[in-house]
Amino acid sequence: MEFYEVLRRRRSIRAYAQEAVPEATLKLLFEAVSLAPSACNNQPVRFLFVTDLAVRRRLCECYPRDWLAGAPVLVVALGNRETAWRRFNGQSAHVIDAAIAMEHLVLAAAAEGLGTCWICAFDQDQARQALRLPDCWEVVALTPLGRPAAEPAPQTRKPLAEIIERLA
Ligand SMILES: Cc1cc2nc3c(=O)[nH]c(=O)nc-3n(C[C@H](O)[C@H](O)[C@H](O)COP(=O)(O)O)c2cc1C
Repeated sequence: MEFYEVLRRRRSIRAYAQEAVPEATLKLLFEAVSLAPSACNNQPVRFLFVTDLAVRRRLCECYPRDWLAGAPVLVVALGNRETAWRRFNGQSAHVIDAAIAMEHLVLAAAAEGLGTCWICAFDQDQARQALRLPDCWEVVALTPLGRPAAEPAPQTRKPLAEIIERLA
């Protein structure tokens, strides 16, 4: 799919078919994640692709939605607050780095005809417990991954004039 077509077609999908994501497609998505830029190229990220049913069920407790539990893959984007570059005020860039890699995944999935949905409104403590993560890792976002089972309702965007300003 042409790049701008991918951008136009990508939507947050909240209904998934049960069928597994082919291994060859997963490999393309792994590459898309690894190609993401990160501050100082520190790459302080880890992406968990969870297909194991028991782990998915445990993880879904942090954001209990039928459409999440029904997806064949759950992806967890982690950022490492210890290995990430820090701004001069000490603020760690791990959330920015993980978010960029997550959006690479989201767009690559759209290009492959797969659906995703950024999820940040999950219970952090429950997600951490489900994954038994060391303290340095923050769960930045989750997304289901799979073939969309329904078209989402049309979405609107603010007019360009509200979000773009040209200081020429
Ligand atoms: C940082 C971020 C967090 C989000 N968290 C959630 C979430 O917790 N649950 C959810 O259903 N959608 C979540 N979304 C999806 C947004 O609701 C969605 O992107 C927005 O409504 C625009 O719709 P579209 O993605 O279909 O264009 C999130 C999106 C972003 C970028």
